[in-house]
Amino acid sequence: MEVLVTRHVFPQAIELLRPHALVDYHDASDGLPAAELQQRTHGKHALLCQLTDAISAEVMDAAGDQLKVIANVAVGYDNVDMATATQLGILVTNTPGVLTESTADLTFALLLAVARRVPEAERYLRDGRWQQWKIDMLCGHDVHARTLGIVGLGRIGQAVARRAAGFGMEVLYHSRNRQAADRERELGATAVSLDELLARSDFVSLHVPSTDETRYMIGAEQLAAMKETAFLINTARGAIVDEGALASALQEGQIAGAGLDVFENEPEVEPRLSKLSNVVLLPHVGSASIATRTRMCTMAAENIVAALGNQRPPNLVNPDALPAQP
Ligand code: DGY
Repeated sequence: MEVLVTRHVFPQAIELLRPHALVDYHDASDGLPAAELQQRTHGKHALLCQLTDAISAEVMDAAGDQLKVIANVAVGYDNVDMATATQLGILVTNTPGVLTESTADLTFALLLAVARRVPEAERYLRDGRWQQWKIDMLCGHDVHARTLGIVGLGRIGQAVARRAAGFGMEVLYHSRNRQAADRERELGATAVSLDELLARSDFVSLHVPSTDETRYMIGAEQLAAMKETAFLINTARGAIVDEGALASALQEGQIAGAGLDVFENEPEVEPRLSKLSNVVLLPHVGSASIATRTRMCTMAAENIVAALGNQRPPNLVNPDALPAQP
């Protein structure tokens, strides 16, 4: 069996794979150019790839019929052509659960950073501009006791809601599926329509996957529906927000600020956003703790080992790709 690892991973993943397969390891942070990715995929039984690898129909075709599994080192898998994978009977796996708490931590870090102007204050000090303590110096907005609107109450959304309880926040949520009453009670979260959430929240935090339905879920109209004092936080996927509309809304003072860890065309960032001091921008580091990223890599490797051993991978996202049971 042969596995292609498309770019650098934590070494534990390679150690896990080696007893089970020949590993073709592209040990570099830069991905393979499209043509080389297709060529290196040829003849492989498994791919261990990352969200920055576009796993298109062409890549799957180039691989050949023996390709069994694509293990993505991420909870999101919008970089994989799922329809083609499922149609070809190729199993696709992700890394859910393990990154929930780290991503929720980072969501709160962003929320606090933008509301309390943390990066701005740090730059002020480092730039030598701090001459004296002043009563109105770098005043921001409180987080405690404010209203948090969570869009998408899956694992990460729920972990964010739990953190909000510690800050005494009121939590509203809007989700495709309404949670059971006891879960809503446990989280202290109230289900509302998206319109109500946008109108009432001081912080709107996005936790939906990137799909055709969620593309530009937050555009000019939704931003206009938010309070002028509200902040938008996105640690999910860039395509959920119309970045151009967000930059305009921020420039025009329609909302107070934004904390963004993800962008429409990573690593590019809408240039107008980079110029605004009321925006905190991070390079997609939601799950970037050493422990979490290591576990994500080993989970992806475990999914491959299972699939190559003809077992159902623990984190299969397209069960329809499994052969039909007699
Ligand atoms: C994911 O897993 O989808 C994140 O964006 C990276 O951790």
